[in-house]
Amino acid sequence: MVHVILKAPDGKELLSFPANAEQTLIEQMEDLAFDMPYSCRAGSCMTCCLVVKQGKDVIDETLGGDKFIDTDDDQILSCIAGVKPEAIASNETITLELEMLDMLY
Ligand code: FES
Repeated sequence: MVHVILKAPDGKELLSFPANAEQTLIEQMEDLAFDMPYSCRAGSCMTCCLVVKQGKDVIDETLGGDKFIDTDDDQILSCIAGVKPEAIASNETITLELEMLDMLY
């Protein structure tokens, strides 16, 4: 299983949930009534960008579509990124820690 923790830039925890393999990260956050900022929802702006603090290996960066802009190695676009099914199926509990960008929060 993969447990997602979303934090503010100051380290405050905003959201915590077990990930599924079917939805993008932004869809899973919205299902929990979290208002994640977005614009294009198509991998071509930076509005939904998150910094990966822990667990990058479990991320499928293009689960929901192609990525059309470059991001830093530790950044993902939550409108297209999701979690790999093999990580969800793991018996181990893996923590995926994400942080909002300063400019978005
Ligand atoms: S909302 Fe534009 S890249 Fe995600």
